[in-house]
Amino acid sequence: MKKDIYWVGAVDWDRRLFDELIPLPDGTSYNAYLVKGDEKTVLIDTVDPTRESSLIDNLNSLDLKNLDYVVANHAEQDHSGTLPEILRAYPDARVVSTPKCKNLLMDLLMIPEERIQAVEDGEKLSLGDKTLRFIHAPWVHWPETMLTYLEEDNILFTCDLFGSHLATSDLYVTDEATVYEAAKRYYAEIMMPFRRIIQRNLEKIKNLKIDVIAPSHGPAYDDPQFIIKAYNEWVYDPPKNIVILPYVSMHGSTKKMVNHFVGALVERGIEVKQFDLARTDIGKLAIALVDAATIVIGSPTVIIGPHPQAVYAAYLANLLRPKAKFASVIGSYGWGGKMVEHIKDILSGLKVEFFDPVVVKGLPKEEDFEALEKLADEIAHKHEENKLAD
Ligand code: FEO
Repeated sequence: MKKDIYWVGAVDWDRRLFDELIPLPDGTSYNAYLVKGDEKTVLIDTVDPTRESSLIDNLNSLDLKNLDYVVANHAEQDHSGTLPEILRAYPDARVVSTPKCKNLLMDLLMIPEERIQAVEDGEKLSLGDKTLRFIHAPWVHWPETMLTYLEEDNILFTCDLFGSHLATSDLYVTDEATVYEAAKRYYAEIMMPFRRIIQRNLEKIKNLKIDVIAPSHGPAYDDPQFIIKAYNEWVYDPPKNIVILPYVSMHGSTKKMVNHFVGALVERGIEVKQFDLARTDIGKLAIALVDAATIVIGSPTVIIGPHPQAVYAAYLANLLRPKAKFASVIGSYGWGGKMVEHIKDILSGLKVEFFDPVVVKGLPKEEDFEALEKLADEIAHKHEENKLAD
């Protein structure tokens, strides 16, 4: 990357699922970095245990005489999982982490306590001609996370913060549009629930001179303002004049309602993003949640409640804590049930105003389409009242 600073991580081109939950359409990488000072050498983060051999091979290729420290910015195993092997290979190396991370590394990986050195916020570590400064940055996205700043070279190693699940042979961002999409997906799925705490962490690094942001997933940023500006928008900007409409339809009744409702919203100048939950990439839905002002869930009634796919979408929206201000439910039933109540219960963590739902028996009829028009009017009115940007 620069003199005596090397990328030594692993690119995982073929991984398609993270945490057995998050789709990875473009694979991912586990970035680890080696910094050689004229007195001490440090490895910053390790890699997922499935890619242990890549890290070991990369370190061997550098002909290291010794490794003094391994910085663990984050205890999650995709960055810490190879620590046991590194500590075996380099018996003099000590792990450097926050006190909370130290406890987690002992619990998750059984790293011996005496091999971990806890550092306070702002503490520095001299490597001789290079200096690391540790910046505690909790909740991006676990409680123990920190950032590491290399003072002489103005490089900020951020682990998950500013990352993107993107396998690429580029060390730095070359295709901004592709990285923007991948970083927004990453933010939506991993960081969005901690939006307010991320605001504090952005404040903390605001006055740092940063030439390079080096995250532990996806390419590094040699134009750091590109990702800092994107995060500022995602974290601070009010929601936009957008309705997202995750829906599922078994026999076409809810689908007819969705079709009519989408047309009614578009006629009123509102952007709509609809997702057929039986087919959609759930990551696309997460990305849409970053900006939308209104969430409308469409579901038929299965036995007595919502379709399980609608339950999943509502649960996810509740978990990710987007900035949406309004919500509603549309859908259908055959003989009864509590579909709307269940969905509202699941969304109870969101601070949203609910519009009256539109729920029809069997196929939608003239008066049901009129009710959808009325719901579209109410949404348009509220978006207008809140002066939401397009
Ligand atoms: Fe990439 Fe939270 O680990």
